[in-house]
Amino acid sequence: MKHLEDKITQVNSLETLEKTRIELFGKKGALTAEFKKLKDVPGPEKKAFAEGLNQSKANLQKLYDEKYALLKKQEIEKILKAEAIDVSLYSSLEAKGALHPVMATMDKIIDYFIALNFSIEDGPKIEDDFHNFEALNLPKNHPARDMQDTFFCKDGGVLRTHTSPVQIRTMLQTQPPIRMIAPGAVFRKDYDITHTPMFHQVEGLVVEPKGEVSFANLKAILSDFLHYMFGDVEIRFRPSFFPFTEPSAEVDISCIFCEGKGCRVCSHTGWLEVLGCGIVDPNVFKSVKYENVSGYAFGLGVERFAMLLHKVPDLRMLFEGDTRLLEQFR
Ligand code: DAH
Repeated sequence: MKHLEDKITQVNSLETLEKTRIELFGKKGALTAEFKKLKDVPGPEKKAFAEGLNQSKANLQKLYDEKYALLKKQEIEKILKAEAIDVSLYSSLEAKGALHPVMATMDKIIDYFIALNFSIEDGPKIEDDFHNFEALNLPKNHPARDMQDTFFCKDGGVLRTHTSPVQIRTMLQTQPPIRMIAPGAVFRKDYDITHTPMFHQVEGLVVEPKGEVSFANLKAILSDFLHYMFGDVEIRFRPSFFPFTEPSAEVDISCIFCEGKGCRVCSHTGWLEVLGCGIVDPNVFKSVKYENVSGYAFGLGVERFAMLLHKVPDLRMLFEGDTRLLEQFR
């Protein structure tokens, strides 16, 4: 059967090998034809003839298998070579990612306070009534609780409505002096062009021995911070109310859209509100059993800062994941 073996040996592609396989091993193939001859072989020789045929068939099968393995291997190597990627090749870096504008703004804020030696503190997003309200001088049934459109959990917990509970957690865990900020997500039932149900705040708290911090310190640090964030703007402190601070203030910067002349963004007042702050209310210190201390605190909304810094017209756009917006922040 040398001529059949040659057929296999000469093949040099998987395609021809498949044709050859049918020619040799197929129903109408060469081997079948050989086996058909068996019936014409005289009785005494039948056995030897059949054994010979089976041996040839086994040889051919072996040759075929070897050939198949070889050609398959060559084919794979060819594909690998053709599809190889040169990882040392330079790319144009066009598809490089970037921080989300809210996180970039958060980082910029955090950098300022790290430079002034503030620690970064964290707390749970599902809070209890004590940390989110009670200890912050917001007793049950106090009308000021309505200032925050709270999401309540079934078990009595709440999604924290501000980062202020981290003040309480930090004071309960450490002793003064304290110089901390608490960046993080907060939640309120709210949805319009300046509100989303989840947003981020950065809280600040400084506690020192009694008499060592004053409103003047608070004013100085926040004015410097706002100049760092917004450049050459005017700043004013306006008396306000927060349950956890007394006295309290809201801080405005001169409108960066119209430079104080009055426009739609600043509701024609020339001012944009950016911060809440004040001197820590004695009741807050009482709830964490601190004595003979004084302190100041502040809180700000990160999305509001990002929106003003980048002139984003609708705060909700920051969370839509639209690449046309995000691509502008590479
Ligand atoms: N927690 C306030 C809010 O979410 C913001 C705030 C105001 C925080 C004054 C403070 C503060 O620490 O002193 O509206």
